[in-house]
Amino acid sequence: MQTLTVELGDRSYPIYIGQDLLGQAALLQQHIRAKQVLVVSNETVAPLYLPTLLQNLSGYTVETVILPDGEQYKNLQWLNSIFDRLLASKFSRNATLIALGGGVVGDMGGFAAACYQRGIVFIQIPTTLLAQVDSSVGGKTGVNHALGKNMIGAFYQPQCVIADAAVLDTLDDRQLAAGLAEVIKYGLIADAGFFAWLEANMAALLARNKAALAYAIEQSCRNKARIVAEDETETGLRATLNLGHTFGHAIETGMGYGEYLHGEAVAIGICQAADLSSRLGWLSQQEVSRIIALLKQAGLPVTPPADLKARQFIELMSVDKKNVDGDIRLILLRGIGDATLPTAVERALLTETLEQYGRE
Ligand code: NAD
Ligand code: GLY
Repeated sequence: MQTLTVELGDRSYPIYIGQDLLGQAALLQQHIRAKQVLVVSNETVAPLYLPTLLQNLSGYTVETVILPDGEQYKNLQWLNSIFDRLLASKFSRNATLIALGGGVVGDMGGFAAACYQRGIVFIQIPTTLLAQVDSSVGGKTGVNHALGKNMIGAFYQPQCVIADAAVLDTLDDRQLAAGLAEVIKYGLIADAGFFAWLEANMAALLARNKAALAYAIEQSCRNKARIVAEDETETGLRATLNLGHTFGHAIETGMGYGEYLHGEAVAIGICQAADLSSRLGWLSQQEVSRIIALLKQAGLPVTPPADLKARQFIELMSVDKKNVDGDIRLILLRGIGDATLPTAVERALLTETLEQYGRE
């Protein structure tokens, strides 16, 4: 097992990465402070992994909330079902909430933990590649609104993250690829060596080679932990983790939550950001081609949905947490491994990318 630390002073916490961690009771129990434990999961993950988790919790007072599966349920209505259970079970302030699932369960569970009695103990047990390399680390929690993705939420750090790579065995190939989009993102924003490693090892990752997957998870978490430690609440550097996300969130919201997986939308957004960066003269055509080729090799889409026109993109992109005074600000690339801070670009150039990149 590898243990990384997210360094946040007295709120620092470990990320445990390894095989078969889910069954290790002591690993989990050391982070629980009192008897009351609520496990939040969903209808797909619970039948697979809840029984093993519950074995680790004998002697505790355990309640469960099983959410329906899907991004379309990441909303205030379903969040309320978690509060309903906490209140009906008379859970107190020293209770623990464990999120067992992908990014949807983790974001919702974390937000519920942040709000309930103004904050209870929160533990992340991410079960998708995307959640293990990104969403479980760093404390961003929240839900979607019909008008904008992740627009309602809080920064709330977990006590620990338990990333058991063995649970990825049941993840389908499309979901694995979605996670790889965020893995590739780390190489692009800050780690050119990792990007080159991914180019050399993508076939092994797709074949689910355990050593390759473990390295990719560890390297991604290392990058994320470093960035979060430097800029927890996204006043600067942390925004680089949003490479491709402003375009991607527009695709997710515009096409209807759940139509494109988050990682798929981000993959397309990364290509659009790369195209725009090359129009600004910051990225060579050869670099753009390398980026598109790697995302394609990972099995990810690389062109925007034909139904989503440039004007709709602009409208949707104008609802984004990085925007200031109505200006759309984007994370762009000055090279592979070198992302910009949020940057406002000429609207005409952005429109060129939206109208021309990936459109026949
Ligand atoms: P998800 O939570 O919807 O999980 C994807 C699918 O895989 C679901 O159907 C789920 O039930 C299933 N699943 C989960 N684990 C499984 C397993 N081990 N075996 C079989 N099936 C399994 O999606 P995701 O890609 O994990 O996360 C996407 C969400 O994360 C989005 O809402 C996105 O906004 C959010 N996100 C948050 C952050 C953050 O910093 N908080 C970062 C990135 C993404
Ligand atoms: N996924 C973006 C962030 O955690 O900041």
